Amino acid sequence: EQTPPALIMIFGATGDLAKRKLFPSLYQLYLKGSLSNQFAVLGVGRREWSDSRFKEHVRDSLHASSHSNDLIEAFIEHCIYQSHDVADSNSYIQLKTQANELDRRFSLEGNRIFYLAMAPEFFGTITDHLKQDGLTDTDGFCRLVIEKPFGHNLPSAAALNEQIRQSFSEEQIYRIDHYLGKEMVQNIEVIRFANAFFEPLWNSRFISNIQITSSETLGVEERGRYYETSGALRDMVQNHMLQMVALLAMEPPINLSTDEIRSEKVRVLRAMRPVEGKEVDEYFVRGQYDKGIMNGQNVDGYRDGDNVDPASNTETFVAGKVMIDNFRWAGVPFFIRTGKRMAVKSTKIVVQFKDIPMNLYYNKEHSLDPNLLVIHIQPDEGITLHLNAKKTSEGVNTQPVRLSYSASSIDGINTPEAYEKLLYDCIMGDATNFTHWDEVRRSWSFVDKISDHWESTTAKDFPNYESGSMGPEGSFKLVADEGFEWWSVG
Ligand code: BG6
Repeated sequence: EQTPPALIMIFGATGDLAKRKLFPSLYQLYLKGSLSNQFAVLGVGRREWSDSRFKEHVRDSLHASSHSNDLIEAFIEHCIYQSHDVADSNSYIQLKTQANELDRRFSLEGNRIFYLAMAPEFFGTITDHLKQDGLTDTDGFCRLVIEKPFGHNLPSAAALNEQIRQSFSEEQIYRIDHYLGKEMVQNIEVIRFANAFFEPLWNSRFISNIQITSSETLGVEERGRYYETSGALRDMVQNHMLQMVALLAMEPPINLSTDEIRSEKVRVLRAMRPVEGKEVDEYFVRGQYDKGIMNGQNVDGYRDGDNVDPASNTETFVAGKVMIDNFRWAGVPFFIRTGKRMAVKSTKIVVQFKDIPMNLYYNKEHSLDPNLLVIHIQPDEGITLHLNAKKTSEGVNTQPVRLSYSASSIDGINTPEAYEKLLYDCIMGDATNFTHWDEVRRSWSFVDKISDHWESTTAKDFPNYESGSMGPEGSFKLVADEGFEWWSVG
């Protein structure tokens, strides 16, 4: 289905996100014919760029994926630039004039999307002006898209939310969590609710634990300034990791509407057992990377990075045990783990089923492996089932077998970028894969208690894991204490 006509106004259009993700994604939608020809991209930025300079910039961002130059040129005809001062009303009045003109020129029917792809400290100022200076005054729809971080903790997120809500209603706000745009994250729900053999087993009677690992090989690179105020807990757990927990743990919604799915996710977040004070040490482990060797190269530790305090207490790794205290999940740990400078770049979910009541096939050589369902989020996309079967011509000895489905090899080479899907959804007015304020609020309140404890106590063992490893000792102990181990299965 094609999108309705729309003006896509990108604040921060000269920045990194716009270049790496937004222009290429919009172009892909255009190439596929998903984007209505009645569209315009109004790039907004502080820099005094000419329109042709901007067009050149967009062209550069597309070259990697170019098919035909004519198409690129046709797309770029729709891209216009306006330099802008976020704090100056005159600047917004100029934007408004420009927007109205584009409205007429491309028949946009007054539909507007304001995409804030820039530092969050300006979010509130911009939304205030958009309303006060009349940019939201149109006959069509107005939507606001905001990138993370959405606040630094619950109080700052609430203040930001309140300010934004002066100008946009909750229904108009699209908070990006790019994990929700990933093909296999979206697939969690389908795998669960469209298969007779998963849903009946999807509870504490049959599942012993669920593990979610999102490991990265890159370090903090040039983002030290931001990361020092964030750390892995705020950067990854508050949003991406808890969103995956919610999708794995939610009850079946009564239908697939945005409201129903969101309300089921919120119920999971409400049921998460809060942990605070000293208790945090029983449930969560923090880590910080040390120097090490990656791809044969020596790499520095986190504390040696630019804009990083040489005695930094910031965590670059988090492992945790999340308990969901409801009927379905009582007693089933959801282990989460994420970190920088780990051995592999991979996001994966492992659902471990409980052992069968009696093992008939046990012998001294091998015990039975548990059944596992592995959901590969990235870089591979697919699912694998680990089962036991008879070993050919060896009596009743069993052997593990794997049933695999690889989305990328079956459905084509390139699954669309997360941003492509999210932009499309936003223009279509589908907010299902965006986070509602209730989700943001609940997850901050869970995470704040952990960061309060960590900020009030120095991590004496930092740095505590080598670059290129799978994280600190403590994260293995966390799982072992419950009688489990992290699965590193394919
Ligand atoms: C972002 C974090 O939200 O997610 C980054 O700010 C992190 O620090 C990134 O690297 C990971 O995303 P992906 O899609 O590469 O797993």
